[in-house]
Amino acid sequence: MKATIKENRELVPRYFTMTLSEMGDDFRGEPGQFVMIRGDWGSDPLLARPLSICRFLHEDGQIRIVYRVMGRGTRRLSEMKAGQTVDINGPLGNPFPRPDESRRVLLTAGAIGAPPLIALAGSMAVSPLLIIGGRTRNDVVFISDEIRELDIETIYVTEDGSYGQKGTAVTELARHVGGNDLVYACGPNRMLAEIARLSEEIGFEAHVSFEERMACGIGVCLGCAVRHANGTYVHVCKDGPVFNVTDIDWDRL
Ligand SMILES: Cc1cc2nc3c(=O)[nH]c(=O)nc-3n(C[C@H](O)[C@H](O)[C@H](O)COP(=O)(O)OP(=O)(O)OC[C@H]3O[C@@H](n4cnc5c(N)ncnc54)[C@H](O)[C@@H]3O)c2cc1C
Ligand code: FES
Repeated sequence: MKATIKENRELVPRYFTMTLSEMGDDFRGEPGQFVMIRGDWGSDPLLARPLSICRFLHEDGQIRIVYRVMGRGTRRLSEMKAGQTVDINGPLGNPFPRPDESRRVLLTAGAIGAPPLIALAGSMAVSPLLIIGGRTRNDVVFISDEIRELDIETIYVTEDGSYGQKGTAVTELARHVGGNDLVYACGPNRMLAEIARLSEEIGFEAHVSFEERMACGIGVCLGCAVRHANGTYVHVCKDGPVFNVTDIDWDRL
């Protein structure tokens, strides 16, 4: 499917927001799902890149993605202008399980892991607590506009102490979480593994979304396999990207 770029703007250095319009009436995604996206830039890079849907603006048939420039694909995307079109495949993957809103919900984001959690917060009737951690100021403030728009209670935490609390998203989660809470998280594998250990220790239920590298995004290339706790392999694109922490073999990630 083709979508038209309505806006593509740098938020802070390396972090961008892109609003896509004319998604088509049958584009119906849910929080936690992603799209494979590429522009009309020839063969460099050839493969589309997976990006989470950050906001569903159904009333206007639009979606918003928020991304960090990592390499060639995201750099090419950052150079695109309003009015140009991109190829979209999606929505793909399994969404976050709907939260039981009688329980306290904590969303834990490692920097650019925030976008799918913002989508989830935007779909909830009761406001969750969002903890967003990153190395330094820009790795957490890039998402401030979305947080303000949704009016989510938020704890910012940076490793160098340049914004919010000093520490990591997981140290902050450990200070606030209780055994009956429901945790949703997205970020680097190391952070997700720490949340899995904390969940075992404290007993809370946790669902995590992986950001593995992907080639096809539809379960064909086997490039995104991770070890299931039962010894088999699962594919982040097709079986995930969201998993219950108890599903994953964290020692062999
Ligand atoms: C389901 C899913 C949802 C995602 N959602 C978002 C999102 O909302 N916003 C966002 O900015 N990114 C998101 N990502 C990550 C994003 O897909 C990658 O950053 C992107 O594909 C990098 O492509 P590139 O061509 O810019 O970099 P490449 O040229 O492919 O790589 C540049 C450098 O980055 C490293 N790298 C590339 N991909 C990853 C990765 N996934 N994890 C760690 N290191 C990597 C490479 O090893 C290399 O060193 C998501 C990934 C998945 C699987
Ligand atoms: S990316 Fe190809 S199987 Fe998952």
